[in-house]
Amino acid sequence: MTVLEAIQRSTDFLAKKNVESPRLQTELLLAHLLKLPRMKLYLNFERVLTPAEVDALRELIKRRSLREPLQHITGSTSFCGYEMLVNRHVLVPRPETELLAEAAWTFLGARPGPATALDFGTGSGCLAIALALKCPAARVTALDISEPALEVARANAARHEVTERIQFLAGDGLAALPADATFDLIVSNPPYIPTAEIATLEPEVREFDPTGALDGGADGLRFYELLAREAARRLRSGGKLMVEFGDDQAPAVRAVLEQEKWIVEAVREDYSQRARFLIAGV
Ligand SMILES: C[S@@+](CC[C@H](N)C(=O)[O-])C[C@H]1O[C@@H](n2cnc3c(N)ncnc32)[C@H](O)[C@@H]1O
Repeated sequence: MTVLEAIQRSTDFLAKKNVESPRLQTELLLAHLLKLPRMKLYLNFERVLTPAEVDALRELIKRRSLREPLQHITGSTSFCGYEMLVNRHVLVPRPETELLAEAAWTFLGARPGPATALDFGTGSGCLAIALALKCPAARVTALDISEPALEVARANAARHEVTERIQFLAGDGLAALPADATFDLIVSNPPYIPTAEIATLEPEVREFDPTGALDGGADGLRFYELLAREAARRLRSGGKLMVEFGDDQAPAVRAVLEQEKWIVEAVREDYSQRARFLIAGV
């Protein structure tokens, strides 16, 4: 079977299984298998795959047809241009979170002196690591309740050689922070799906992202309430809180913060022009 034939057959198979963008998914899996950039496949359409390659591709396509996310199959994804390892213990970083990361490093990089940031619910470590890479003088605390997630975050920090500037803490809420720890920036993409909605999500999300990374409590607002109550005393003078939220949650998240006397300075949209994160101060 040639590369082109394999692409065509696998694309048809994934399309029948209702996988979105079946051709792109096939090409990415085949490129991963052959260790080629995807565009190089186009120069190799006539190449004949070995029997071992055909078997390996069949296995990868089967996993994707069962709705395992591409990133879990390949073991990594790109976040702000940096490769991040992922596994079943962490949420796969989403493109919209890159916009939060950009706002965060723009703010942090402009702070005088050695700036500090807290990434609450760090998961794969994507936000903490992007901040450390973009702000070489900054020190970052990366906090998560999940030890296995922190292992992934540590591995990603080591890959990007920022381990020395990131402190990893395991704990529930902000309880694990040292009593006197304060930050110029608190950034978070917390779990925000209302519990009952998790079952309605695409299989890629509901079956492969950890439930603990999705579940924001009955109304999805549990972690905004926690941050609204507890984050203000952790901010240095002039510091900011930047939080991502789900579709249509902007008014509710704003209300939760304003009730605790936060000043919401900006609500920013994602690539689909949906309100996606906000910036607040005290
Ligand atoms: C939506 S994921 C975000 C991961 C990563 N920051 C990102 O943007 O891709 C939320 C993270 O919050 C963590 N988390 C959930 N409950 C927590 C709690 N009570 N205290 C600290 N972290 C928690 C989860 O383990 C998960 O890694």
